Amino acid sequence: MEGNEQVSTESDSLPDGVELFAYQVAGHKHGKGRLGLGILKHKNGQILKPLFEDNGRAEKELSFYENVFQNSSADPLLEELKHFLPVFHGTKNIHISGRDIKYLCIEDASGTFQNPSLLDMKIGRITYEAGASEKKIKEQTEKFLHGEACGIRIVGMKVYDEEKQIHVSQERAFLRTLTPDTIATGLNLFLTKDRFINSLLLCGFIHKLSQIDKWFSRQRKLLFIGSSILFVYEGTLASWRTWIKNKDLISHMQNWNDQNTSSKPENFPNDCSILKPGINDTCFLCGLNKYVCTEVLTNCDLFRIVMIDFAHVSSSDREDTNYLFGLHKLISNFKGLLEIQTTDP
Ligand SMILES: Nc1ncnc2c1ncn2[C@@H]1O[C@H](COP(=O)(O)OP(=O)(O)OP(=O)(O)O)[C@@H](O)[C@H]1O
Ligand SMILES: [Mg+2]
Repeated sequence: MEGNEQVSTESDSLPDGVELFAYQVAGHKHGKGRLGLGILKHKNGQILKPLFEDNGRAEKELSFYENVFQNSSADPLLEELKHFLPVFHGTKNIHISGRDIKYLCIEDASGTFQNPSLLDMKIGRITYEAGASEKKIKEQTEKFLHGEACGIRIVGMKVYDEEKQIHVSQERAFLRTLTPDTIATGLNLFLTKDRFINSLLLCGFIHKLSQIDKWFSRQRKLLFIGSSILFVYEGTLASWRTWIKNKDLISHMQNWNDQNTSSKPENFPNDCSILKPGINDTCFLCGLNKYVCTEVLTNCDLFRIVMIDFAHVSSSDREDTNYLFGLHKLISNFKGLLEIQTTDP
């Protein structure tokens, strides 16, 4: 574990109204690397992503956002896709370190959370474009030894530790060693210490990912190479407990169980078996009580999933099997974790 990360002192040299983004979990960091540019946060709450001028990547990401947000009213497929993306707010030129840099302005998906926990997951077996240089292919395959087999790569994770009141990051070197057999262990590190909350969280993830899956199974327009899904949830567990109480989730499920089963869960409410009502009224997708699924999906703002990083999206006329492979692996890993949360003693 890397422990509590200190934000670099580079913020001293930033222009007014702009600061380092404390919740960046992967990618280029400001003040580091060859170009020294990374994600920033504007005082208006938006995230600023530098548009690098190398290999047309910047233009690709910008034109992707412009295409989705400007043409969505005329294209139902783009309209649907738009809802999986952070809101796009155009671009801004910022004078920084003696240079004028163009930044992409997007919604901060972690902006509404008190103490967000974050996971950046790259989707797809292949993370380099067709025609990529030998160097790029070598670099990408060596970074994540089992990336192709896994179909997913955890590129960064920061989890809020309530007891210590710090954010804990996972070592990149460790994340890169994960195999198809151990990636679930890596994903498990993203969860909280509360199994009931974890079950709700995993239910939300599985359902949202399945909405993305539905979109990808229908679309034949775009290929998403090296693109990520960012998972964010509220790490302050008291907020979850208040939500569970306000929704009257426990008594709703208890009433249901009273009517439909003879057995009562032991150690209630810690026993997560209450979340699984039996054969009827079980969600076919995640296996939990349908009422819980509906509440989590429609009335819970304690977690958020957004697709990010579109520097390598290209047009296509075929199914994005590369992305779909990874997405299915991710969904099945989350389903496995949910099973453990709700059945283990
Ligand atoms: N909309 C967003 N809301 C919150 N955090 C974000 C958002 N977009 C990006 N981030 C944070 O910034 C990190 C890097 O973002 P991104 O993947 O887009 O950039 P990158 O990997 O540096 O880009 P590239 O691969 O194009 O050079 C993410 O891991 C995440 O922590
Ligand atoms: Mg990235």
